[in-house]
Amino acid sequence: MTLVLGIESSCDETAAALVTSDRRILAQAIASQEEEHSPYGGVVPEIAARAHAERLAPLIDKVLKEAGKTLADCDAIAATAGPGLIGGVMVGLVTAKALAMASDKPLMAINHLEGHALSPRLADSDLRFPYALLLVSGGHCQILRVQGVGNYQRIATTIDDALGEAFDKTAKILGLGYPGGPAVEKLAREGDAQAVPLPRPLVHSKEPHFSFAGLKSAVLRAHDCGEHSDADIAASFQQAALDCILDRTRRALSGMDAVSALVCAGGVAANQTIRAGLEGLAAEFDLPFTAPPLPLCTDNAAMIAWAGLERLNAGFAADPLELKARPRWPL
Ligand code: KG4
Ligand code: ZN
Repeated sequence: MTLVLGIESSCDETAAALVTSDRRILAQAIASQEEEHSPYGGVVPEIAARAHAERLAPLIDKVLKEAGKTLADCDAIAATAGPGLIGGVMVGLVTAKALAMASDKPLMAINHLEGHALSPRLADSDLRFPYALLLVSGGHCQILRVQGVGNYQRIATTIDDALGEAFDKTAKILGLGYPGGPAVEKLAREGDAQAVPLPRPLVHSKEPHFSFAGLKSAVLRAHDCGEHSDADIAASFQQAALDCILDRTRRALSGMDAVSALVCAGGVAANQTIRAGLEGLAAEFDLPFTAPPLPLCTDNAAMIAWAGLERLNAGFAADPLELKARPRWPL
């Protein structure tokens, strides 16, 4: 059994977790910065970096104590090294380097997107490579063919906004605060998904890419015209977003080599309507559908520890202490 300490600090969640190679999360802790950022309607990088710096060490201490472990029990220290807000990423990475150095353990520098991409395998021991992955978060919107650890074929990406960003902007327009995804989902339950005519950008286009900027502008116009209830706008937006996702993912699957499953990960994968829609789409292709449990969808450290475990298992070498944090780092 291998044990890895994971650290996540790339956006607005400070998180630490201890995960074993037999898929047990021994302890995990997340400090959300929602309160600090919500007055600004989005994440303020400087505030985020300071909050990570204040909270990370006590969080790590807490998970170690909770699990009754010390650094000496860990086989590696894994931390997000990018992509993300550079100040926050540096806080997590430099902490991991210090811990790795002090305990003489290997440092595993993890691409945050790889954390999301492999997270479904932490929850589902039956999930085998290769699988088709819709990775939908606040910063990313991609379809990948996950072929193995460190082996990702990117099939599609967004040409403008990420899907989570569209949810967050819709929430801002409707005055629902930040983060917007869960609030839009909740309000949408009370609305009519057909009430507001909204565009479905790029639907039926040949390449499976995404675009959400036009949808966001249409939401703003629908709100400003004053003819629709907020609930109808939320429901119609969510439906339009789902239609785009289903069409684009269908297109991607049609052109993709065989896969074992359709998988959804990233913060937006927490959305029940989107999960249900994707489950139906997977059935069209005779594929099982899986998505991690909700706490593993949004940013967390268990997925970073798990990516570290997967990399160790696959024989990847430890990363050097000179390694730099990367604000941009495509998979
Ligand atoms: O993966 P994540 O925690 O952070 C990034 O790596 O970006 O994703 C956060 C994004 C936010 O845009 C948030 O609004 C969205 O995921 N999100 C949701 C839901 N929960 C979180 N979007 C739609 N429905 C949800 N239930
Ligand atoms: Zn994320």
